[in-house]
Amino acid sequence: MSFGYSRRADLAEPFLAMEVMERALELERGGADIVHLEVGEPDFPAPPAAVEACQQALARGETGYTDSRGLAELREAIAADHRRRSGVEVDPDRVIVTGGTSPAMLLVFLLLVEPGDEVVLAAPHYPCYPNFVHVAGGVPVYVETRAEDGYRLDPDEVRAALTPRTRAIVVASPANPTGAIQDAETLAALANLGVPLVSDEIYDGLVYDEHRVTSALGLGEDVFVLDGFSKRYAMTGFRLGYVVAPERAIRPLQTLGQSLFISASHFVQRAGIAALAHGEPTLREMRSAYARRRRLLLDGLAPIGFSVPTPPAGAFYVFANARRFGDDSRSLAFDLLERAHVAVTPGIDFGQAGEGFLRFSYAASDDAIARALQRLGEALS
Ligand SMILES: Cc1ncc(COP(=O)(O)O)c(C=O)c1O
Repeated sequence: MSFGYSRRADLAEPFLAMEVMERALELERGGADIVHLEVGEPDFPAPPAAVEACQQALARGETGYTDSRGLAELREAIAADHRRRSGVEVDPDRVIVTGGTSPAMLLVFLLLVEPGDEVVLAAPHYPCYPNFVHVAGGVPVYVETRAEDGYRLDPDEVRAALTPRTRAIVVASPANPTGAIQDAETLAALANLGVPLVSDEIYDGLVYDEHRVTSALGLGEDVFVLDGFSKRYAMTGFRLGYVVAPERAIRPLQTLGQSLFISASHFVQRAGIAALAHGEPTLREMRSAYARRRRLLLDGLAPIGFSVPTPPAGAFYVFANARRFGDDSRSLAFDLLERAHVAVTPGIDFGQAGEGFLRFSYAASDDAIARALQRLGEALS
């Protein structure tokens, strides 16, 4: 007898950035030289202090489980870091540490969403959000943001999308894929619509013109802040993140986490403590490199025929309108991969609102960006 798999497995859309990367790797195995601008992964080493702290923890034998909420010392350091960055006082008991921001996201959606409940997502959006909502049994409801308005998530449009079944509003600032930042008034309005606000702040710190990011922490009663070490400290593979949640949510999040994950790795949490204490130089170095590469990309994409009505204010992506070359971003991205050997992510990965766009990651060297621009120019001329 053969068993079928759950319907849940069909509800998750393929992550196209990964599919492009996997095809690129296949081409590389065949000898092709590919320029990778598809993945959202810093090309910098983790802060040396974090690596050292991890090694020392391993040598000391800190290889077991920890408190399911994370080491007290790390939760205190995270609270202090939020105080420093956003000026908001955070009780360390409101922090739950997880093995990346993604597990924190899973816990929050499992906590908030009953089967059939709705979750409002700003579109275009990080590809995994709807997948998390589906896994929790929920239904994503999209509120479109537009390049012409700087991708502002309009609180009035969100209000109009709310129904008695709405259980959360999700916003990311700075955002993937647009690099857009939501201003303080917008975040405050979103946090006070009577529905929990889930604010993904994983790109906070990676901003270019001025540091005008506002945390949603402290803006409303029911705010869940998701954050982690992957982007700000170039620690994607360490797998370390956290959620700062309202006090009454902590116990249920903790019990869910106890069963699903038990705890984040002990030695990785030590790396997190060290990154918060000594990671600023890595962040500064990345920020200045990304600022330069952002300029390189913006200056190089325009003459080829891509338009970027709202240049990114943060994160490390340029979301460029590619309609001049066709409306089907998936075909265009795979065509560019095959013909120009440049890997980029199709806009459709970020929902229907992203169709006709391509996302270029500038977490790649200046040289890689220059080569990509040259190849794209030739392939699309
Ligand atoms: C907006 C956003 N949130 C969350 C994540 C996941 O991060 P983590 O590595 O902490 O699981 C990503 C990764 O690309 C992201 O872009």
